[in-house]
Amino acid sequence: MNILMIGAGRMAEAIISGLMKQNNNLRLTVANQTDDVKRLELAKKYNINETSDWRTAVEQSDIIISAAPPSAHEGLFQELSPLINKQLVITVAAGIDTTFMQGHLPEGTPVCWIMPNTAAQLQASISTFVCGHYVTNEHRQIIEMILAAIGDYEELTEEQVHDLTAVTGSAPAFLYLFCEALEKAAVSYGISQEQARKLVTKMVAGSAQMLEAGYPPSDLREQVTTPGGSTAAGVSVLNEGNFTELIGAAVKATNEHARGRKN
Ligand SMILES: NC(=O)c1ccc[n+]([C@@H]2O[C@H](COP(=O)([O-])OP(=O)(O)OC[C@H]3O[C@@H](n4cnc5c(N)ncnc54)[C@H](OP(=O)(O)O)[C@@H]3O)[C@@H](O)[C@H]2O)c1
Repeated sequence: MNILMIGAGRMAEAIISGLMKQNNNLRLTVANQTDDVKRLELAKKYNINETSDWRTAVEQSDIIISAAPPSAHEGLFQELSPLINKQLVITVAAGIDTTFMQGHLPEGTPVCWIMPNTAAQLQASISTFVCGHYVTNEHRQIIEMILAAIGDYEELTEEQVHDLTAVTGSAPAFLYLFCEALEKAAVSYGISQEQARKLVTKMVAGSAQMLEAGYPPSDLREQVTTPGGSTAAGVSVLNEGNFTELIGAAVKATNEHARGRKN
């Protein structure tokens, strides 16, 4: 199976790296426009083909994945349209949904919109995805193989992929902000930045493991929060600051901003 990857940035590398680790019978070609150094580096590192002109690799490709910026897609699909013949086209670009893809590619083109997150670099993404009208079961197997190469995944409706990108894609930034704040608080008690980083990182990793073990977050919170105890005093400060509403407002603002752009 021949896969053409358009884009040679962070997300392209995450997918290439995951696919090559899966050791499937794949032939990958990576393409970008300007950064020859990065493209050649990826080709060498993963022992794959490369080209500075993706157009030349379309005909022999079975699957075309775009990891180019959202703003490049209109032009990209315009150029791709006369060259494709029912190949599966996948994009990981924010906001480039299947309605957009089907509207800009020839009638009958099978398309899929995948929204991974930054942890794809460690094959630990939780990705959401939605398939277009012409995706067959065979295509779906390929899509799931690509998704599994970068972590775990959940199929949603197009609207849900839009709305949940704030939670899966942007909320890692909310969590990192929380970690920065905790590190700052830890350092204020006289430990080094390095020690603070270790304490916070291990606390988050352990908490994530508890969640992954299947305990609901509310149960876990209650386990730690003895009524009238010291953790309860801290939690009540967060509640007084409307922590839950604040997170809801952050999700809403992220979605409102995402809906208003294609760049
Ligand atoms: N990074 C993430 O965590 C993340 C998460 C979810 C979704 N995404 C999506 O993934 C896509 C890539 O993100 P990234 O973080 O990997 O960005 P990036 O590191 O900036 O990479 C973008 C790549 O696209 C190439 N490119 C730009 N315009 C092109 C064109 N017209 N034709 C061919 N290649 C082109 C760039 O290379 P040249 O400039 O050399 O051509 C570069 O290799 C974006 O659409 C983004 O929305 C990223």
